[in-house]
Amino acid sequence: VRAVELHPSSGFDGLRLVTRAAPAMARRDVRVRIRAASLNNLDLFVARQAKDRATPLIPISDGAGEVIEVGAEVKTVAPGDRVAASFFPTWIAGPISADYHANVLGVTRDGMLTEEVVLPERSWVRVPAHLSFEQASTLPCAGVTAYNALIECARLRPGDIVLTHGTGGVAMFVLQLAKAAGARVIVTSGSGEKCTRALRLGADLAIDRSENPHWSDLVRAWTDGRGADIAIDLGGPGTFDQSAASLRFAGTLVMLGVLAGHTGSIDWVPVLEKMLRLRGVYVGSIEMFEGLNRVVDAHRLEPVIDRVFAFEEARAAYEYLASGKHLGKVVLQLR
Ligand SMILES: NC(=O)c1ccc[n+]([C@@H]2O[C@H](COP(=O)([O-])OP(=O)(O)OC[C@H]3O[C@@H](n4cnc5c(N)ncnc54)[C@H](OP(=O)(O)O)[C@@H]3O)[C@@H](O)[C@H]2O)c1
Repeated sequence: VRAVELHPSSGFDGLRLVTRAAPAMARRDVRVRIRAASLNNLDLFVARQAKDRATPLIPISDGAGEVIEVGAEVKTVAPGDRVAASFFPTWIAGPISADYHANVLGVTRDGMLTEEVVLPERSWVRVPAHLSFEQASTLPCAGVTAYNALIECARLRPGDIVLTHGTGGVAMFVLQLAKAAGARVIVTSGSGEKCTRALRLGADLAIDRSENPHWSDLVRAWTDGRGADIAIDLGGPGTFDQSAASLRFAGTLVMLGVLAGHTGSIDWVPVLEKMLRLRGVYVGSIEMFEGLNRVVDAHRLEPVIDRVFAFEEARAAYEYLASGKHLGKVVLQLR
């Protein structure tokens, strides 16, 4: 089978198109012909850290395809089913643990940028029928993360006001899921043009961060001084203080991104005074993936895809995501 491997290197030079033996099957395994894979910001980080790897890795956690073979003891899927693998292939339900955390497709073990993937039956999730493989490939990381943040952690309710950052993969899922649940959504973006597009996609307010460095003032003004109910913070320490300042008393701050840096000082006082609820999120379980699919199915949601590249153009796709020009997801097609 054809695959892309990430070899020890810095930058995206380590991405190489190779041929590998088809992976072997066990009795409870399922073989899937991957048709599309989608990139996440994490994949950029993994590629940039590849110089420290001891062995090559098939990158990318997110892919979707068609079942082409099942082991003798497999009961829940059959050839022809359309599926995607869970970001954490062993985390079925319940809270995260060190074991699940150590087992991530395209990060700690081979991922989806290959024509065939074999995983145990329970690691695969059927995808909504109305989605193309390209659309379905965007669900496992960005979609599940947004679902976990909004529904599991923040307990989103109709009428809530949700704040999120940027117009990337996770943010566009936050927008779509929150709107489907009856919330109002505020997006901040570094681009006026992307603000316009976010409004067209259903955002109620889009704030251009480049023109409004104190954007939390605008969030409070737009909410009549009360503040948003939920902030899905994608920036990290660089946006934490303003996300906290944007929230109402007893609001919820979900921290899941590091777009504005991994480390830095933050102001604790508003967290204490407003008695904010803080939650960290790392993608989610297979049960959450199934919950996401129910919402996507019920509302006929279609993930926002910016651009589709051919499998052979993997490096160009990485470079495009790294350029930050995209709105929504960047996808690779494996025909
Ligand atoms: N914890 C988890 O489970 C989890 C899961 C998925 C992703 N993440 C993290 O969440 C973040 C977003 O991931 P993604 O895959 O959605 O990324 P992405 O698709 O690459 O989107 C990134 C977007 O964020 C915006 N942005 C860039 N710098 C920013 C800054 N300093 N402050 C605010 N926004 C900024 C930009 O949008 P504009 O041009 O519109 O500003 C950019 O296009 C990353 O840090 C990623 O590692 C975490």
